[in-house]
Amino acid sequence: MEKTFLMVKPDGVQRGLIGEIVNRFESKGYQLVGGKLMTISQELAEQHYGEHKERPFFGELVDFITSGPVFAMVWEGENVISTARLMMGATNPKESAPGTIRGDFAVTVAKNIIHGSDSPESAEREIGLFFKEEELSSYEKVVNSWIN
Ligand code: PPS
Repeated sequence: MEKTFLMVKPDGVQRGLIGEIVNRFESKGYQLVGGKLMTISQELAEQHYGEHKERPFFGELVDFITSGPVFAMVWEGENVISTARLMMGATNPKESAPGTIRGDFAVTVAKNIIHGSDSPESAEREIGLFFKEEELSSYEKVVNSWIN
């Protein structure tokens, strides 16, 4: 079953949105298979956002993501990578539709509440960066037969 890495960023944690965000993915029919509140080190932030290191906002992005605790998660389910991105909304909240997480809760691109893997390759890489195998628990849910 497909897995993705999602993370409530420091602004989402500070604003008390962890529960709201977890609820949206659970209500959709996805399964939380790993989750932890953690503070990201400078080194992990630079690895995680490595593909953006030449961009002008890289320093700001690293400073922001290390500025306070984040809630890192692994979610599992059919098409979870692309569907989670749809549920998050466009990266820039100026363009994210109402009903999406960023559309409902964010105003600026620098503080856009949530991160989500954008492809199967980045999901695998990001899950590996943030979680050890033993921190993930896949389990059978009877309710899945009413969804899939
Ligand atoms: S995407 O989704 O990767 O195409 O988005 P992208 O525009 O390339 O942005 C990559 C991440 O950088 C964050 N971002 C910024 N942070 C601070 N300041 C500015 N100006 C800025 N622009 C983009 C954006 O929120 C993306 O973070 P993640 O965590 O990947 O969503």
